[in-house]
Amino acid sequence: MIDFQALAEQYDTPLYVYDFDYMAAQFEALKEAFRGRKSLLAYAVKANSNLSVVRHFAKMGAGADCVSIGEVRRALICGVPKYRIIFSGVGKRDEEIAEALDVDILYINVESEAELMRVEKIATAKNTVARISVRVNPNIDPQTHPYISTGLHANKFGVDLDSAKRMYIRAKNSPSLEPIGIHFHIGSQLTQLSPIRESAEIVADLVRSLAALKIDLKFFDIGGGLGVRYKEEQTITPYDYVQAILGTLNGLDVTVVCEPGRFLTANAGYFLTRVLYEKRNGDKRFVVVDGAMNDLIRPSLYNAYHHVDTLGKEGEVSAADIVGPVCESGDFLAKSYPLPMMTHNDLLVLESAGAYGFGMGSNYNTRGRSAEVALEGAQARLIRRRESFDDIIALEKEFLED
Ligand code: LLP
Repeated sequence: MIDFQALAEQYDTPLYVYDFDYMAAQFEALKEAFRGRKSLLAYAVKANSNLSVVRHFAKMGAGADCVSIGEVRRALICGVPKYRIIFSGVGKRDEEIAEALDVDILYINVESEAELMRVEKIATAKNTVARISVRVNPNIDPQTHPYISTGLHANKFGVDLDSAKRMYIRAKNSPSLEPIGIHFHIGSQLTQLSPIRESAEIVADLVRSLAALKIDLKFFDIGGGLGVRYKEEQTITPYDYVQAILGTLNGLDVTVVCEPGRFLTANAGYFLTRVLYEKRNGDKRFVVVDGAMNDLIRPSLYNAYHHVDTLGKEGEVSAADIVGPVCESGDFLAKSYPLPMMTHNDLLVLESAGAYGFGMGSNYNTRGRSAEVALEGAQARLIRRRESFDDIIALEKEFLED
């Protein structure tokens, strides 16, 4: 049992709390599912990029899946070996490509023919060879929220099969490019196995047809996406997930790369917020809290559900919107949530907030971002201090004219 009251007392609210032991258990469970197979778990840094979180996974042997050179730098600082770092993303600047080549990461994941040409040009100028993989868009509906669906041609990600083939042939014939991997990621919060299996089949077939052209790929990168339970979702077990993938790889000698983010961190995280007051507008009940959409945007952006723990508060419940102080009607943490009568300073704990919570935060309304705390064993420790007003204005202050 986590003593949320004590943590709120010590570190104040709004506050993110992460159970590092839970994260470790999730990592081990996935690792175990791959046991006996060549695999690399590359943590999707975007899910929760706090340095202490990334280091936690690095210590367990994780690689890092990065989508900006900033994330690559984070991974390096946290001790992720360069040969376990992957750099993905639809739009990379020349400097980012150049730095990734200088660092000599495992591979750059290329998402268009135009990008392949940029990478080739930059590698040639550096007189080096760029290891690449191509992100294939298998045109499969992942059956998840449209904002986090990526595997359809209507989405901006990856390239179709014909383009991918052309890109591999070009890469094979270029002295500055070495095609070593193939990648797909059809979406996030996946709870259905069949779209994953179908995608893996399509991509594995492509790997076989490339082998016939003497293009031998070593890394079969299945992206991330494994869903978690926020409410009552049926989730896929790591075992079923891995077996479904492996079942498509007959005859292929590849290392399976997996890029989990949410699976490792979501249910390890809690967002703590205190009640400011109750109010009513006509029949509508609102509980106004000190946390807001700038801290946790998932409810506003995706209508996402986060379970709310009232820590044993008693009383008759009725539906209330839990809203923050931000000046937007879209600023809510929960809609029509059954809550007992709340009073000033009562604590609410929003669960499953460890992935895409803090990282999607902002300073909107000149609100400092929350502090972050790690729990490991019975110990709590601060892993990011609360942002102060001075922190928020620091980059503008020097430009203020009289
Ligand atoms: N690999 C790639 C190429 C990705 O684009 C993503 C996530 C991952 C791995 C990790 O996916 P995961 O295992 O966490 O599902 N902000 C949204 C989620 C965006 C996911 C973006 N890509 C949310 O709060 O639900």
